[in-house]
Amino acid sequence: MNSFISTHGGNLNYEAERLGCKVDQLLDASASLVPFDLNRSLKKCLIRALHGSALRNYPDRQHQQFREVIGYWHQIDSSMVLPGNGASELITWAARDASVAGLSTLPVPGFGDYQRALLCWDADFVQKQLPLSWTSHAPQPFPISQDSEVLWITNPHNPTGQLWSRDSLEPLLNSYELVICDEAFLPLVPDGEKQSLIPLVADHPNLIVIRSLTKLFALAGLRLGYAITSPERLERWYRWRDPWPVNGLALAAGINLMTDGIALERWINRVQEWVKIEGKWLHAELNELPGITPFPSAVNFLLIHGDTSLLTLREQMSQKLILLRDCRSFVGLGDSWLRIGLQQRSGNRRILEELGQCLVKSN
Ligand SMILES: Cc1ncc(COP(=O)(O)O)c(C=O)c1O
Repeated sequence: MNSFISTHGGNLNYEAERLGCKVDQLLDASASLVPFDLNRSLKKCLIRALHGSALRNYPDRQHQQFREVIGYWHQIDSSMVLPGNGASELITWAARDASVAGLSTLPVPGFGDYQRALLCWDADFVQKQLPLSWTSHAPQPFPISQDSEVLWITNPHNPTGQLWSRDSLEPLLNSYELVICDEAFLPLVPDGEKQSLIPLVADHPNLIVIRSLTKLFALAGLRLGYAITSPERLERWYRWRDPWPVNGLALAAGINLMTDGIALERWINRVQEWVKIEGKWLHAELNELPGITPFPSAVNFLLIHGDTSLLTLREQMSQKLILLRDCRSFVGLGDSWLRIGLQQRSGNRRILEELGQCLVKSN
């Protein structure tokens, strides 16, 4: 259990027990979820689903309606869509295919779940270091060139928040046997959809794009994501996985959220506006604090780098019930880095004030 705890943010029960507080007293900036209240129409939909048959009956194994609304939203055929129990479940199946295709390249520092999934299937992988300095220019060219059969891309990248340009990613589809592009955070990035690889899937059977609904709608507890790739690949995954990986409530929620295009666009615009305004503001304010350097990010989290170890600072913040992401589990980062998940203005102010007090005392 402890190794799990150290490789993910958002371990609220563990931290609350450790700190002797209730979960809802914590300001969690260690996971990167949208901080808005649950979508109102979703709340109604979940209540309807609870009173209806979503719990009593087995969920639709074909996920027909969900696949159709996602297909319509992305303007692709629904046979290229498969929902999963969060993006993480689909990452496991993508890793199964990667294990057969050959050696995987994992850019580091990067999201640790790819390694977890590859290890599940005894797959071979190498870690390729990304440059640890970057500008605020977005999108940026992807800096890794081909040296293996499989490439894992995270766009925007976690934990750096860099947005990779589609122009730099597209040629890679001609040289790799398999490209897995995790776009879990892309809908949160202002103007980010222009860099999506989804429009390329129909012509590239060697491409898997993975999306998550848990970030965009702050539904991490519900577990819902989807993969977009060739129908033949999805048929295979369908045969391998357990019969009902996506529960009835998650399916009902996904259909509700993705069907009303106008409401969806309104939500996405609100989220992207928040990322644009708060991201810029928090970065500028952090820049004024002594002893740390904030890094530019296109999305709703950013990295800070300390002149020395930031572990004491992280613990001091935890004692004030503010959780920041320990970055030691990201290969190549270590104890002088922390990741901060963006909040609404009041939460960001609280983070800044407490960080400022701790840093002024220690500098
Ligand atoms: C880059 C990235 N992809 C995927 C996931 C997992 O998403 P889900 O909650 O849909 O399983 C995460 C979770 O932190 C993530 O950071």
